[in-house]
Amino acid sequence: MTKRIYTDPSIASSEITPESVFLNRRAFIKASSGTAASALGLSTLSSAAEPSELIYKTDPDGSLRGEQTPYDAVTSYNNFYEFGTDKSDPARHADSMATDPWTIKVGGLVDQPGELHLEDVMSGFDLEERIYRFRCVEAWSMVVPWIGFPLSALLKRFAPRSEGRFVEFKTLYRRSEMRGTRSFTSVIDWPYREGLRLDEAMHPLTLVAVGLYGKTLPNQNGAPLRLVVPWKYGFKSIKSIVEINVTAEQPETSWQTLQPNEYGFFANVNPEVDHPRWSQRFERKLPSSIFKPNRVPTLPFNGYEEQVAGLYEGMDLRQFY
Ligand code: MTE
Repeated sequence: MTKRIYTDPSIASSEITPESVFLNRRAFIKASSGTAASALGLSTLSSAAEPSELIYKTDPDGSLRGEQTPYDAVTSYNNFYEFGTDKSDPARHADSMATDPWTIKVGGLVDQPGELHLEDVMSGFDLEERIYRFRCVEAWSMVVPWIGFPLSALLKRFAPRSEGRFVEFKTLYRRSEMRGTRSFTSVIDWPYREGLRLDEAMHPLTLVAVGLYGKTLPNQNGAPLRLVVPWKYGFKSIKSIVEINVTAEQPETSWQTLQPNEYGFFANVNPEVDHPRWSQRFERKLPSSIFKPNRVPTLPFNGYEEQVAGLYEGMDLRQFY
């Protein structure tokens, strides 16, 4: 079976690199031979399929495609504290996490609480490629071609109730497979938790990613599925999700609980609001080194101001950072 993946229509399928053959452990694409484009079903898209409303233009002039961070950098310089605090720890140790089978429990203020198994996720949602800027609160950044689907599509299946105002997310917590959670230097009260306002969660830019660079998501990047909220600092983009709850109250989140004055609930990328310990005006675009720091100015809402600023109208973004 070929799973159709929608790409930004401004991108010719011939531009997809051959390296991005989608490895399919779990059955959504069989790519035994041929080009990446056919493996991804992109030829199907360009020849037969009409662009649907599912396609949300995130790289309208195609400029981000040329700025993509190399695959090796995206998958070897990571934050995933469950496996350690050094940037190289996740790539070295995250393979100990079993990601199959995988179940996501969805509940709280929804009319149809239930569970999703990974197979349901893979077969039940149309996948798209989204090339996003990704900005960590630590002032490094990347441009990543994610494969995923809008979180709104998932949430709608569970019918959030009108009292629901927030969404809470939790990462898998399995001590035996996550050496960072066993470490005495571990600072987080596990499981890792994050949250969004419901309107942020329903925004078309908010993505559930299951892959990157046309491949299945590597464990160190949050396999088998993670959130990507491109206008917020990276810590909001919670990895390896096993639970989602719609709530009336703002949920407690890991980083906010740890250091409320350093990591706000909103965490919108904002060059005007410094982190208490460093400036947020610039970022190091990976790959970077002391010889070639690749320092670029940080953009308000990480470059997605036009799409998301309306969500925060009337809010003082210095107070609600
Ligand atoms: N999710 C979990 N479960 N644990 C983490 O430590 N780190 C966050 C976020 N999601 C983190 C997480 C931070 S601080 C960042 S910057 C991004 O993941 C990093 O994503 P990447 O490693 O894919 O670049």
